[in-house]
Amino acid sequence: MRSQQSDKLASIGTYAFVDVKNRVKELRQQGITPIDFGIGDPTAPTPELVREALKKAVDERKSAGYPLEEGELSYRQVISDWSRKRFSISLDPQKEICANIGAKEAVFHIPFAFINPGDYVLIPNPVYPPAQKGTHFAGGKPFYMPLLQDNSHLPDLEALPKEIVKKSRIIYVNYPNNPTTALATKDFYKELVDFAHDNSIIIVSDECYSEMYYEKKPVSLLETSREGVIQVQSLSKRSNMTCYRIGWIAGDENLIAPFKKLKPNYDSGAATFIQDAAAAALSDEKHVEEMRKGYKEKRDIMVKAFSDIGLEDCTPPATLYIWQRCPEGIGSVEFAKKLLDPEIAVVCTPGSWLSAQEENLNPGDGYARFALVPSLEDTKKAAEKIRKLEF
Ligand SMILES: Cc1ncc(COP(=O)(O)O)c(C=O)c1O
Repeated sequence: MRSQQSDKLASIGTYAFVDVKNRVKELRQQGITPIDFGIGDPTAPTPELVREALKKAVDERKSAGYPLEEGELSYRQVISDWSRKRFSISLDPQKEICANIGAKEAVFHIPFAFINPGDYVLIPNPVYPPAQKGTHFAGGKPFYMPLLQDNSHLPDLEALPKEIVKKSRIIYVNYPNNPTTALATKDFYKELVDFAHDNSIIIVSDECYSEMYYEKKPVSLLETSREGVIQVQSLSKRSNMTCYRIGWIAGDENLIAPFKKLKPNYDSGAATFIQDAAAAALSDEKHVEEMRKGYKEKRDIMVKAFSDIGLEDCTPPATLYIWQRCPEGIGSVEFAKKLLDPEIAVVCTPGSWLSAQEENLNPGDGYARFALVPSLEDTKKAAEKIRKLEF
């Protein structure tokens, strides 16, 4: 049958990580098992307490009718309690919180609730693709804000063209940031809120890495303002629950309400027993501390290997990634390909694949992203292999 893709679907490339998966497949076909730092999908088990809570919930919830799109009140109450403890903010579970099917679902769909065709959406570059793709499918226009090392990987709000700002409805931010690993400061959040309020722009703050930090605890944008803000959260990385597809959005009730109105049109909510498992995960911090320790050990091993071969120190303050500067004069893809040499067989994601190309600038070029998801043993092996690299 002739391809029946819509013009919008036909105009976009494959999802970046499909390419990474294909590279890994190619190496496997050659009989080589690569050590895969490509995709940020934790390989460690989901904590036992979460799995046990899920099993119990499946039995307790014998009849499995459609869930509430906004989530069980019990789940939203746990989110409210957790947010109070973690960020000292009080959220009304009835009006200011809505469950989602993972952060990706919310990041993609939010533009459908708020923009009209032709409206601009301000998107950080490097970009988490669903922000850009959701904007595209909702009929909006992305305007990219480069996240440059010189500006601590924060968008330069003053540099945004005034005529674009006037036509913008949403600004996305994501701190701790994937892939640059940067943290936002309170000062930046204050500047962002002033900018957004002055220009009637909604802020979507994807905070799905807020619990994945090393030395300094990240702040939430909701500590600075609730008005005009949607915080996006997820259990995926905090509790190794990527497969469970569960998270939430929280913030300004005037923005949560349109999202709740939109949601029943495309899904029927997260499974109730998954919400119970997520509530159990949020009620425990011990496994999160353990998880942070594990990532720190792997981070330090990899950072040392990179510094041993003369690369810039890119020690991440947060997230499960290293955003490594490539050797001088070597582009992202070339560096990633060097690592795919069968002798080394280490998979990373070229930074340029994670960024939109803008005229002469691809802010991800010159970087490679390593997701610290292989086991400790494999991370040690990878570090040894990386030490063999010569430039
Ligand atoms: C910035 C960002 N937001 C959202 C997600 C997806 O989170 P979830 O698994 O909750 O959909 C990711 C996953 O890598 C991410 O990097």
